[in-house]
Amino acid sequence: MLILGIETSCDETGLALYDADARQLLAHAVYSQTAMHEAYGGVVPELASRDHLRRLVPLSRQVLERGGRRIADIGAVAYTEGPGLAGALLAGAAFARSLAQALAVPAIGIHHLEGHLLSPLLSTRAPQFPFVALLVSGGHTQLMRVQQVGRYELLGETQDDAAGEAFDKTAQLLGLGYPGGPALSRLAESGKPKRYRLPRPMITSGDLEFSFSGLKTAVLTLMKKEIQPEKKDLAREFVDAVVEVLVAKCSLAMEKTGLTQLVVAGGVGANKQLRAALDAKAAATGFDVFYPEPELCTDNGAMIAFAGALRLQAGNTIPATGHAFSVRPRWDLATLS
Ligand code: KG4
Ligand code: ZN
Repeated sequence: MLILGIETSCDETGLALYDADARQLLAHAVYSQTAMHEAYGGVVPELASRDHLRRLVPLSRQVLERGGRRIADIGAVAYTEGPGLAGALLAGAAFARSLAQALAVPAIGIHHLEGHLLSPLLSTRAPQFPFVALLVSGGHTQLMRVQQVGRYELLGETQDDAAGEAFDKTAQLLGLGYPGGPALSRLAESGKPKRYRLPRPMITSGDLEFSFSGLKTAVLTLMKKEIQPEKKDLAREFVDAVVEVLVAKCSLAMEKTGLTQLVVAGGVGANKQLRAALDAKAAATGFDVFYPEPELCTDNGAMIAFAGALRLQAGNTIPATGHAFSVRPRWDLATLS
């Protein structure tokens, strides 16, 4: 079965075609709105919804063309039902539902984070259930125990800012634009370690909870104190602090669960320093780490198409809602079944 995947939860319009029989991603395309939102220093929900509407049709055409398929070949449509921005989700859901209705094929609503945490299964080197997943995105920082598709147990999460949010806010303080995570990571590469000292929040708390909001405050305090702070060294210390905390908590999660595979998903999972540190820790303590392909770390339609395929294979039928549908801007992953 050919599945069209549609992601519109925030500021990326992602479309993809996944062939569930051949277990192959045929094509995917992402349009990122970041340039449009940059002037405002963050995502403007209204603008995001309108832009998704502009991109959905051309991107659908593009993936069909690249995948060498026709619209009539689509056997199901999977779309992000939540969590995310209500208007942005509605744009994708309305498009997905109408298309499915017109083609007389099923439409299936997918949890955005389920998409992220199953995305490493799309790689050639894929993990096996059960595994521990670290979800690190702009909105979430969570450790989950993933038993199988639909069985997710929350092990711990951030009490305040997400790791990606801390990256973005700190990048903004350093004048690196929005979203500054990747730029901050690049700047840190040329920075000297240990020139500044930032806290490692909750690193010794003994549990799997996180807290990142104090870090940006610490960066701000440091910047006020120093007459001319060396930005690259500050960036280096910030990245080191976040990475050390994430690695320590992942390692503790492996110990506590007794599992041997760790999956890293979400935008911050693209971070080079995090990958290098996790790989080193895994090699030293004897667990395996799996990442999605770098281009599938940030928001995309491929993970939604793939999660849709797994759910349809698992016999998940689509609730008979008639023509009505809704989206879930807030949706707890642990409530899925
Ligand atoms: O998963 P994602 O695309 O969207 C959400 O669902 O939030 O993650 C976006 C987040 C942003 O905060 C962005 O700055 C961060 O991931 N990010 C990175 C890197 N690439 C993306 N943070 C650090 N290093 C990176 N290389
Ligand atoms: Zn995401």
